[in-house]
Amino acid sequence: MVMDVMAAAARIEAAGGRVVHMEVGQPAAPAPRTAIAAAQAALAAGRIGYTEALGVPSLRVRIARHYADNYGLALDPARVVVTTGSSGGFILAFLSLFESGDRVALANPGYPPYRHILSALGCEPMLIETSERTRWALTGDALIAAHRKKPLAGVVIASPANPTGTMMSAEALAALIAVAEGEGIKVISDEIYHGLDYAFPARTAAGLSPGVVVINSFSKYFCMTGWRVGWMVMPENLVRTAERLQQNLAISVPALSQFAAEAAFDGNAEMDAVKHGYEENRRILTEGLPKAGLDKFLPVDGAFYLYASIARFSDDSLDFARRMLEQAGVAATPGIDFDPIDGKHFLRFCYAGSADEMREAVDRIGIWLKS
Ligand SMILES: Cc1ncc(COP(=O)(O)O)c(C=O)c1O
Repeated sequence: MVMDVMAAAARIEAAGGRVVHMEVGQPAAPAPRTAIAAAQAALAAGRIGYTEALGVPSLRVRIARHYADNYGLALDPARVVVTTGSSGGFILAFLSLFESGDRVALANPGYPPYRHILSALGCEPMLIETSERTRWALTGDALIAAHRKKPLAGVVIASPANPTGTMMSAEALAALIAVAEGEGIKVISDEIYHGLDYAFPARTAAGLSPGVVVINSFSKYFCMTGWRVGWMVMPENLVRTAERLQQNLAISVPALSQFAAEAAFDGNAEMDAVKHGYEENRRILTEGLPKAGLDKFLPVDGAFYLYASIARFSDDSLDFARRMLEQAGVAATPGIDFDPIDGKHFLRFCYAGSADEMREAVDRIGIWLKS
Protein backbone atom coordinates (compact mmCIF):
# COMPACT_ATOMS: atom_id res chain seq x y z
CA MET A 1 0.00 0.00 0.00
CA VAL A 2 2.91 2.33 0.69
CA MET A 3 3.78 2.07 -3.01
CA ASP A 4 0.31 3.43 -3.87
CA VAL A 5 0.87 6.34 -1.49
CA MET A 6 4.29 7.00 -3.06
CA ALA A 7 2.83 6.92 -6.58
CA ALA A 8 0.06 9.33 -5.57
CA ALA A 9 2.65 11.63 -3.94
CA ALA A 10 4.74 11.56 -7.14
CA ARG A 11 1.67 12.58 -9.18
CA ILE A 12 1.00 15.53 -6.87
CA GLU A 13 4.63 16.63 -7.09
CA ALA A 14 4.71 16.24 -10.89
CA ALA A 15 1.72 18.61 -11.03
CA GLY A 16 3.70 21.17 -9.00
CA GLY A 17 2.22 20.34 -5.56
CA ARG A 18 4.17 20.09 -2.31
CA VAL A 19 4.39 16.83 -0.30
CA VAL A 20 6.07 16.21 3.05
CA HIS A 21 7.37 12.65 2.78
CA MET A 22 6.93 10.57 5.92
CA GLU A 23 5.98 7.30 4.22
CA VAL A 24 9.30 5.63 3.45
CA GLY A 25 11.41 4.11 6.22
CA GLN A 26 14.83 5.23 5.18
CA PRO A 27 17.29 7.90 6.35
CA ALA A 28 17.50 11.13 4.37
CA ALA A 29 21.25 11.48 5.16
CA PRO A 30 24.00 9.84 3.08
CA ALA A 31 26.47 7.17 4.27
CA PRO A 32 29.26 8.35 6.59
CA ARG A 33 32.04 10.21 4.76
CA THR A 34 34.50 7.54 5.95
CA ALA A 35 32.48 4.86 4.15
CA ILE A 36 32.24 6.82 0.91
CA ALA A 37 36.00 7.54 0.99
CA ALA A 38 36.78 3.84 1.51
CA ALA A 39 34.59 2.88 -1.44
CA GLN A 40 36.23 5.52 -3.64
CA ALA A 41 39.70 4.28 -2.65
CA ALA A 42 38.73 0.68 -3.40
CA LEU A 43 37.38 1.66 -6.82
CA ALA A 44 40.54 3.61 -7.59
CA ALA A 45 42.68 0.64 -6.54
CA GLY A 46 41.10 -1.49 -9.24
CA ARG A 47 39.60 -4.94 -9.18
CA ILE A 48 36.50 -5.64 -7.11
CA GLY A 49 36.20 -9.40 -6.82
CA TYR A 50 34.26 -11.98 -4.87
CA THR A 51 34.97 -12.13 -1.16
CA GLU A 52 34.80 -14.96 1.37
CA ALA A 53 31.20 -16.20 1.64
CA LEU A 54 31.10 -15.27 5.33
CA GLY A 55 32.40 -11.77 4.57
CA VAL A 56 35.71 -9.90 4.42
CA PRO A 57 37.65 -11.13 7.51
CA SER A 58 38.63 -7.62 8.68
CA LEU A 59 34.97 -6.51 8.51
CA ARG A 60 33.91 -9.51 10.63
CA VAL A 61 36.59 -8.58 13.18
CA ARG A 62 35.42 -4.95 13.14
CA ILE A 63 31.78 -6.00 13.67
CA ALA A 64 32.83 -8.19 16.63
CA ARG A 65 34.67 -5.17 18.09
CA HIS A 66 31.45 -3.15 17.78
CA TYR A 67 29.88 -5.55 20.32
CA ALA A 68 32.74 -4.95 22.76
CA ASP A 69 32.60 -1.17 22.26
CA ASN A 70 28.82 -0.80 22.35
CA TYR A 71 27.56 -3.53 24.64
CA GLY A 72 30.66 -4.63 26.57
CA LEU A 73 30.35 -8.06 24.98
CA ALA A 74 33.34 -10.17 23.92
CA LEU A 75 32.30 -11.76 20.64
CA ASP A 76 34.26 -14.25 18.55
CA PRO A 77 34.48 -12.84 14.96
CA ALA A 78 34.01 -16.44 13.77
CA ARG A 79 30.33 -16.07 14.76
CA VAL A 80 29.81 -13.03 12.50
CA VAL A 81 28.29 -13.57 9.05
CA VAL A 82 28.15 -10.61 6.64
CA THR A 83 24.88 -10.47 4.70
CA THR A 84 23.16 -8.56 1.88
CA GLY A 85 21.40 -6.16 4.25
CA SER A 86 19.41 -7.66 7.06
CA SER A 87 16.99 -8.84 4.35
CA GLY A 88 19.64 -11.28 3.10
CA GLY A 89 20.24 -12.23 6.72
CA PHE A 90 16.62 -13.31 7.20
CA ILE A 91 16.79 -15.67 4.24
CA LEU A 92 20.03 -17.27 5.49
CA ALA A 93 18.79 -17.43 9.09
CA PHE A 94 15.40 -18.94 8.23
CA LEU A 95 16.98 -21.48 5.86
CA SER A 96 19.60 -22.38 8.48
CA LEU A 97 17.12 -22.75 11.34
CA PHE A 98 13.85 -24.02 9.89
CA GLU A 99 12.38 -26.72 7.69
CA SER A 100 9.45 -26.28 5.36
CA GLY A 101 6.22 -26.50 7.39
CA ASP A 102 7.75 -25.04 10.56
CA ARG A 103 5.69 -22.43 12.40
CA VAL A 104 7.36 -19.17 13.39
CA ALA A 105 5.80 -16.59 15.73
CA LEU A 106 5.83 -12.88 14.85
CA ALA A 107 4.51 -9.84 16.67
CA ASN A 108 1.52 -8.10 15.12
CA PRO A 109 1.86 -5.29 14.05
CA GLY A 110 5.22 -6.05 12.48
CA TYR A 111 7.53 -5.70 9.50
CA PRO A 112 5.71 -7.52 6.63
CA PRO A 113 8.75 -9.19 4.96
CA TYR A 114 9.20 -11.47 8.00
CA ARG A 115 5.95 -13.23 7.15
CA HIS A 116 6.41 -12.97 3.40
CA ILE A 117 9.92 -14.49 3.45
CA LEU A 118 8.78 -17.26 5.80
CA SER A 119 5.80 -18.09 3.54
CA ALA A 120 8.01 -18.06 0.44
CA LEU A 121 10.27 -20.62 2.16
CA GLY A 122 7.29 -22.85 2.99
CA CYS A 123 7.16 -21.94 6.69
CA GLU A 124 4.01 -20.80 8.46
CA PRO A 125 4.09 -17.34 10.05
CA MET A 126 1.98 -17.18 13.23
CA LEU A 127 0.95 -13.62 14.08
CA ILE A 128 0.59 -12.92 17.79
CA GLU A 129 -1.39 -9.80 18.67
CA THR A 130 0.36 -7.30 20.91
CA SER A 131 -1.40 -4.63 22.94
CA GLU A 132 -0.92 -1.64 25.19
CA ARG A 133 -0.94 -4.03 28.19
CA THR A 134 2.34 -5.62 27.03
CA ARG A 135 3.73 -2.33 25.68
CA TRP A 136 3.13 -3.65 22.16
CA ALA A 137 5.73 -6.43 22.58
CA LEU A 138 5.56 -10.22 22.54
CA THR A 139 5.58 -11.80 25.98
CA GLY A 140 6.54 -15.24 27.23
CA ASP A 141 2.88 -15.91 28.18
CA ALA A 142 1.60 -15.10 24.71
CA LEU A 143 4.34 -17.21 23.14
CA ILE A 144 3.56 -20.21 25.33
CA ALA A 145 -0.18 -19.88 24.66
CA ALA A 146 0.47 -19.93 20.88
CA HIS A 147 2.96 -22.80 21.27
CA ARG A 148 0.42 -24.91 23.20
CA LYS A 149 -2.15 -24.43 20.42
CA LYS A 150 0.27 -25.31 17.62
CA PRO A 151 3.95 -26.02 18.32
CA LEU A 152 6.32 -23.25 17.23
CA ALA A 153 9.81 -23.77 15.82
CA GLY A 154 10.87 -20.15 16.14
CA VAL A 155 10.07 -16.58 17.03
CA VAL A 156 11.26 -13.29 15.51
CA ILE A 157 11.57 -10.33 17.84
CA ALA A 158 12.49 -6.72 17.04
CA SER A 159 13.43 -3.91 19.39
CA PRO A 160 13.18 -1.07 18.39
CA ALA A 161 10.41 -2.34 16.13
CA ASN A 162 8.95 -1.30 12.80
CA PRO A 163 6.23 0.06 12.43
CA THR A 164 5.68 0.86 16.09
CA GLY A 165 9.05 2.38 17.09
CA THR A 166 8.61 0.73 20.49
CA MET A 167 11.34 -1.11 22.36
CA MET A 168 11.43 -4.04 24.76
CA SER A 169 13.02 -3.41 28.13
CA ALA A 170 16.08 -5.53 28.95
CA GLU A 171 13.94 -7.53 31.41
CA ALA A 172 11.16 -8.17 28.86
CA LEU A 173 13.72 -9.26 26.26
CA ALA A 174 15.53 -11.58 28.69
CA ALA A 175 12.25 -13.10 29.93
CA LEU A 176 10.99 -13.79 26.40
CA ILE A 177 14.27 -15.41 25.32
CA ALA A 178 14.35 -17.58 28.46
CA VAL A 179 10.78 -18.81 27.89
CA ALA A 180 11.38 -19.47 24.18
CA GLU A 181 14.62 -21.35 24.72
CA GLY A 182 13.07 -23.32 27.60
CA GLU A 183 10.54 -24.65 25.06
CA GLY A 184 13.12 -25.27 22.33
CA ILE A 185 11.81 -22.32 20.25
CA LYS A 186 14.62 -20.70 18.23
CA VAL A 187 14.95 -16.95 18.65
CA ILE A 188 15.84 -14.47 15.92
CA SER A 189 16.42 -10.92 17.13
CA ASP A 190 16.17 -8.17 14.49
CA GLU A 191 18.39 -5.38 15.85
CA ILE A 192 18.46 -3.23 12.70
CA TYR A 193 17.34 -0.12 14.62
CA HIS A 194 20.01 -0.42 17.31
CA GLY A 195 21.87 2.86 17.66
CA LEU A 196 18.55 4.70 17.21
CA ASP A 197 17.31 4.30 20.79
CA TYR A 198 15.99 7.33 22.67
CA ALA A 199 13.84 6.08 25.57
CA PHE A 200 16.46 3.74 27.04
CA PRO A 201 19.54 1.89 25.74
CA ALA A 202 18.83 -1.07 23.46
CA ARG A 203 20.24 -4.34 24.74
CA THR A 204 21.56 -6.95 22.30
CA ALA A 205 20.09 -10.43 22.51
CA ALA A 206 23.60 -11.73 21.73
CA GLY A 207 24.49 -10.85 25.32
CA LEU A 208 21.53 -12.79 26.70
CA SER A 209 22.02 -16.15 25.03
CA PRO A 210 24.62 -17.67 22.67
CA GLY A 211 21.78 -19.56 20.97
CA VAL A 212 19.99 -16.49 19.56
CA VAL A 213 20.51 -15.45 15.94
CA VAL A 214 21.01 -11.67 15.91
CA ILE A 215 20.40 -9.79 12.68
CA ASN A 216 21.65 -6.26 12.06
CA SER A 217 22.42 -3.94 9.18
CA PHE A 218 24.27 -0.86 8.04
CA SER A 219 21.02 0.47 6.53
CA LYS A 220 19.55 2.54 9.34
CA TYR A 221 21.99 3.96 11.93
CA PHE A 222 24.75 4.15 9.29
CA CYS A 223 22.36 5.51 6.59
CA MET A 224 23.52 2.89 4.03
CA THR A 225 20.24 1.43 2.74
CA GLY A 226 21.35 1.23 -0.90
CA TRP A 227 24.69 -0.37 -0.12
CA ARG A 228 22.90 -3.59 0.85
CA VAL A 229 25.14 -4.77 3.63
CA GLY A 230 24.27 -6.18 7.04
CA TRP A 231 25.37 -8.95 9.37
CA MET A 232 24.31 -11.78 11.65
CA VAL A 233 25.72 -13.07 14.90
CA MET A 234 25.04 -16.79 14.81
CA PRO A 235 25.46 -19.66 17.24
CA GLU A 236 28.77 -21.35 16.42
CA ASN A 237 27.13 -24.52 15.15
CA LEU A 238 25.14 -22.67 12.46
CA VAL A 239 27.97 -20.68 10.87
CA ARG A 240 29.05 -23.45 8.50
CA THR A 241 25.45 -23.91 7.31
CA ALA A 242 25.10 -20.18 6.66
CA GLU A 243 28.43 -20.17 4.84
CA ARG A 244 27.31 -22.95 2.48
CA LEU A 245 23.99 -21.27 1.84
CA GLN A 246 25.60 -17.90 1.12
CA GLN A 247 28.22 -19.48 -1.15
CA ASN A 248 25.50 -21.13 -3.22
CA LEU A 249 22.86 -18.41 -3.17
CA ALA A 250 24.98 -15.28 -3.69
CA ILE A 251 28.70 -16.29 -3.55
CA SER A 252 29.39 -13.18 -1.49
CA VAL A 253 28.03 -9.82 -0.40
CA PRO A 254 29.18 -7.01 -2.77
CA ALA A 255 32.85 -6.36 -1.97
CA LEU A 256 32.64 -2.60 -2.41
CA SER A 257 29.86 -2.36 0.15
CA GLN A 258 31.84 -4.46 2.62
CA PHE A 259 34.88 -2.15 2.35
CA ALA A 260 32.62 0.85 2.88
CA ALA A 261 30.84 -0.82 5.81
CA GLU A 262 34.10 -1.48 7.65
CA ALA A 263 35.01 2.21 7.35
CA ALA A 264 31.49 3.26 8.43
CA PHE A 265 32.40 2.35 12.01
CA ASP A 266 34.84 5.29 11.95
CA GLY A 267 31.95 7.61 11.08
CA ASN A 268 30.21 7.30 14.43
CA ALA A 269 30.42 11.00 15.28
CA GLU A 270 28.73 11.93 11.99
CA MET A 271 26.01 9.32 12.51
CA ASP A 272 25.42 10.40 16.10
CA ALA A 273 24.70 13.90 14.78
CA VAL A 274 22.10 12.39 12.43
CA LYS A 275 20.61 10.53 15.39
CA HIS A 276 20.33 13.78 17.36
CA GLY A 277 18.36 15.17 14.42
CA TYR A 278 15.90 12.28 14.73
CA GLU A 279 15.61 12.97 18.45
CA GLU A 280 14.64 16.56 17.72
CA ASN A 281 12.11 15.37 15.11
CA ARG A 282 10.68 12.99 17.68
CA ARG A 283 10.26 15.87 20.12
CA ILE A 284 8.53 18.04 17.49
CA LEU A 285 6.08 15.25 16.62
CA THR A 286 5.33 13.99 20.14
CA GLU A 287 4.62 17.58 21.24
CA GLY A 288 2.98 18.80 18.03
CA LEU A 289 0.79 15.92 16.81
CA PRO A 290 -1.46 15.85 19.91
CA LYS A 291 -2.15 19.57 19.44
CA ALA A 292 -2.83 18.90 15.75
CA GLY A 293 -5.42 16.26 16.69
CA LEU A 294 -3.48 12.96 16.58
CA ASP A 295 -3.18 12.44 20.31
CA LYS A 296 -2.89 8.67 20.57
CA PHE A 297 0.28 6.88 19.53
CA LEU A 298 2.42 3.98 20.69
CA PRO A 299 5.54 4.59 22.84
CA VAL A 300 7.99 6.45 20.58
CA ASP A 301 11.10 4.70 21.98
CA GLY A 302 13.42 4.23 19.02
CA ALA A 303 13.98 3.77 15.25
CA PHE A 304 12.39 6.71 13.40
CA TYR A 305 8.74 5.75 13.46
CA LEU A 306 5.67 7.07 15.18
CA TYR A 307 2.61 4.80 14.98
CA ALA A 308 -0.51 6.85 15.53
CA SER A 309 -4.11 5.81 16.03
CA ILE A 310 -6.59 7.40 13.63
CA ALA A 311 -9.55 5.46 15.12
CA ARG A 312 -11.17 8.76 16.20
CA PHE A 313 -11.41 9.80 12.56
CA SER A 314 -11.63 6.70 10.37
CA ASP A 315 -11.95 2.93 10.04
CA ASP A 316 -9.95 2.93 6.84
CA SER A 317 -6.29 3.89 7.15
CA LEU A 318 -5.69 3.65 3.38
CA ASP A 319 -8.49 6.11 2.64
CA PHE A 320 -7.30 8.37 5.50
CA ALA A 321 -3.71 8.29 4.18
CA ARG A 322 -4.94 9.13 0.65
CA ARG A 323 -7.01 12.07 1.88
CA MET A 324 -4.22 13.34 4.15
CA LEU A 325 -1.90 13.25 1.15
CA GLU A 326 -4.30 14.95 -1.26
CA GLN A 327 -5.72 17.53 1.12
CA ALA A 328 -2.87 18.17 3.59
CA GLY A 329 0.15 17.23 1.45
CA VAL A 330 1.57 14.82 4.04
CA ALA A 331 2.44 11.25 3.00
CA ALA A 332 2.36 8.48 5.64
CA THR A 333 1.94 4.72 5.48
CA PRO A 334 -1.43 3.10 6.26
CA GLY A 335 -1.30 0.60 9.15
CA ILE A 336 -2.81 -2.15 6.98
CA ASP A 337 0.67 -2.59 5.51
CA PHE A 338 1.87 -3.85 8.89
CA ASP A 339 -1.18 -5.25 10.61
CA PRO A 340 -3.83 -7.29 8.81
CA ILE A 341 -5.97 -7.28 11.98
CA ASP A 342 -6.20 -3.70 13.29
CA GLY A 343 -4.05 -1.73 10.84
CA LYS A 344 -7.13 0.04 9.52
CA HIS A 345 -6.93 2.21 12.65
CA PHE A 346 -3.27 3.30 12.39
CA LEU A 347 -0.81 5.34 10.34
CA ARG A 348 2.99 5.10 10.46
CA PHE A 349 4.94 8.33 10.25
CA CYS A 350 8.66 8.12 9.48
CA TYR A 351 10.57 10.99 11.08
CA ALA A 352 13.91 10.52 9.31
CA GLY A 353 13.53 13.84 7.43
CA SER A 354 14.42 17.38 8.53
CA ALA A 355 13.08 19.29 11.56
CA ASP A 356 11.50 21.86 9.20
CA GLU A 357 9.61 19.08 7.44
CA MET A 358 8.34 17.78 10.79
CA ARG A 359 7.06 21.26 11.78
CA GLU A 360 5.45 21.67 8.38
CA ALA A 361 3.76 18.24 8.67
CA VAL A 362 2.38 19.04 12.13
CA ASP A 363 1.01 22.40 10.90
CA ARG A 364 -0.54 20.91 7.77
CA ILE A 365 -2.16 18.01 9.66
CA GLY A 366 -3.50 20.39 12.32
CA ILE A 367 -5.11 22.69 9.76
CA TRP A 368 -6.53 19.74 7.81
CA LEU A 369 -8.03 17.90 10.80
CA LYS A 370 -9.62 21.09 12.04
CA SER A 371 -11.07 22.04 8.64
C1 LIG B 1 12.46 -4.04 11.04
C2 LIG B 1 13.24 -4.10 9.77
N1 LIG B 1 14.04 -5.16 9.56
C3 LIG B 1 14.73 -5.27 8.41
C4 LIG B 1 14.66 -4.31 7.41
C5 LIG B 1 15.46 -4.53 6.13
O1 LIG B 1 16.51 -3.68 6.01
P1 LIG B 1 17.87 -3.97 5.19
O2 LIG B 1 17.65 -5.16 4.35
O3 LIG B 1 18.09 -2.73 4.39
O4 LIG B 1 18.93 -4.19 6.20
C6 LIG B 1 13.87 -3.19 7.60
C7 LIG B 1 13.77 -2.15 6.55
O5 LIG B 1 13.00 -1.22 6.61
C8 LIG B 1 13.13 -3.07 8.81
O6 LIG B 1 12.33 -2.04 9.06
